[in-house]
Parts: sequence; structure tokens; C-alpha cells
Amino acid sequence: MKKVILTHRYSEEAISLLRREFQLHIAADQGPDIPGFLRRHADADGLISFLSDPIDGAVIKGLKKLKIIANFAVGYNNIDIGSALENNVLVTHTPDVLTEATADLTMALILAVARRLVEGDAFVRTGRFTGWGANLFLGKELRGAILGIIGMGRIGLATALRARAFGMKVVYYSRSAKPALEKKYGFARVTFLELIRSADIVSLHLPYSPGVHHLFNQDVFALMKKDAIFINAARGPLMDEEALAEKLAKNERFGAGLDVYEGEPAVNKKLKHLKNTVLLPHLGSATGKTRRSMAMMTVQAVRQALNGEKPRHLIPEWKERLRKKP
Ligand code: GLV
Repeated sequence: MKKVILTHRYSEEAISLLRREFQLHIAADQGPDIPGFLRRHADADGLISFLSDPIDGAVIKGLKKLKIIANFAVGYNNIDIGSALENNVLVTHTPDVLTEATADLTMALILAVARRLVEGDAFVRTGRFTGWGANLFLGKELRGAILGIIGMGRIGLATALRARAFGMKVVYYSRSAKPALEKKYGFARVTFLELIRSADIVSLHLPYSPGVHHLFNQDVFALMKKDAIFINAARGPLMDEEALAEKLAKNERFGAGLDVYEGEPAVNKKLKHLKNTVLLPHLGSATGKTRRSMAMMTVQAVRQALNGEKPRHLIPEWKERLRKKP
């Protein structure tokens, strides 16, 4: 029986499927020391990892028989892809199934910041709601607002379509033009600077790579509208969290909705004390349906790879490599 290692517990259904076909070891059941677990299981054939597990070159080289890393996430910046390619270890991720859930969460953050939902909720719970008020928690209207999407991929598009239904005008910044979307929905491709300066709401939908580290820094925040809303449900290191906290502290008309953080699970202390922020614990894909589908995709990926088939959801870098030399 081939040996598969899983770093944390997830769908029980997926775990029992894995147990039927493989010798399965779950790191979380053996204590908190995941690097130690990975060293003890150096003969594993397959690894199922979470986005919070750093799978660096040393880990990959240490797992001498490894054929596949199935990442339980669409983003895979936790894995050293160069090393995986070099060591011939396949890497898969979980695209598509989490697109709608993540776009829903992005809209939830936009609405929560624009309409001050968290402040309002705290106000009621602490017994301060003593009567309807004409000026109570006035927020921002979405109809007519400009939403700037950074990265018009699957999640960016699903968010843009939701925003369109709310009467927002969508502009986007993307490496490649999307003429079909421009024609069908009227979404306009603009430069990064144009987007930053004109958007009422800026929402990040880019994968993280070192080339876009701190894409949103002090200078960029300074160029945004004074009362803009900044949304990040993509990856924390795309933004300079300290610069964002300073901007929010200085200007209470500026708002932010965050689902991800630079040093997750650590969150910049200043952010926690600000009213103009809504902070979530990385919940983008967190619906029962989506998490089940993601888990099933990891089972399928491991099964296919360990049966000598090409896994269906290889990351783009692996697809590219196979296109060049099938
Ligand atoms: C979540 O952040 C994911 O990449 O799936």
C-alpha cells in the first residue's frame, strides 16, 4: 500500500476514502511538530498540505519517494515550486470549486465595511441601541461606486459579476486583456495607476509571488481616494500591513476588509483597534460544500498521481512543463 501523509485533519469523508486506498498518516494526530512528522515519514509517496504549511526545498528533498503534493487550496505560494519541478514532484491545487464561495466572501467584506455591519452589531449587543437615528452609522452606497478588481481571474470575475448586480461600475487591472468580458459586461481594463486613483473600492484577486510582494504599499495607499475601501481576500503579503494600518489610523474615512494577513495567523495589533476595518480569519473558501469539494479534489489528485495517471488539477507551472515535454 502506498503511503500518504496529510498535515491536518479535514473532511472525514475524504479521510476515510484515503484510508481505504492508502496507508494514511495525519500529522495533527501525532502532535504539533509538523516538520518532525515530515522527517519521520520521509518515505511517503504522497503529501496533502494546507496553505499554512511551508513546503520548502528541504522538505521536498527530504521526502525521497514523493510523487505528488496535493495542496488543499487554490493558492500554492506555500510550496517551493522550483524545487518540486526539479525533483519531479507533481503539484496540484483546488481551482474552480472555491470561486463562488470566495467571491461571496469578498462581497460580504465589501458590504460589511461599506455599511459598518460589525460596528452596528457591537452597538446592539452592548445595549447602546436606544432608538432609530437619522445619522446612525451612515455608510457608503454601492450603486454607482467604482470597483477596481486587481487580477481578473476566476475569483476576480465572479466578484465583478456580483458587483455588477449591485449596480457598481467595474474596472480591472490584469496582465492580459479580456476583450470578451469588456464586450459582454462593459468591464474596462485600466492601468494600475488609473485603477488606484479612480476606484471607490479596490479588491485584490491575485496569486502571491515575490514579484508582487507589497504591491500595496504606503505610496499606493496614498494615491487611493480618501474614502476608498481596500479589500484583500487573496494573500496577506500582497500588502504592507503596517502601511495599511497607518493609513487607516490616520484617515477614518478610509476602510479595509481583510481575510488574509502578512504573517498569518498573526494580525497587526493596530488593525485590531480600528473601527474602519473588518477582520476575518481566512474564510474565503469556508463553506461546507466548497471545503468538501476541495478535499475530494486532493483525494482524486493523490489517487491519479499514485496510479501513474496525470492528475487533473496540476498547477499551471506543471501543465506548462508537460506541454513542453509530454
Ligand atoms: C485560500 O486562500 C486558497 O488559496 O484556497
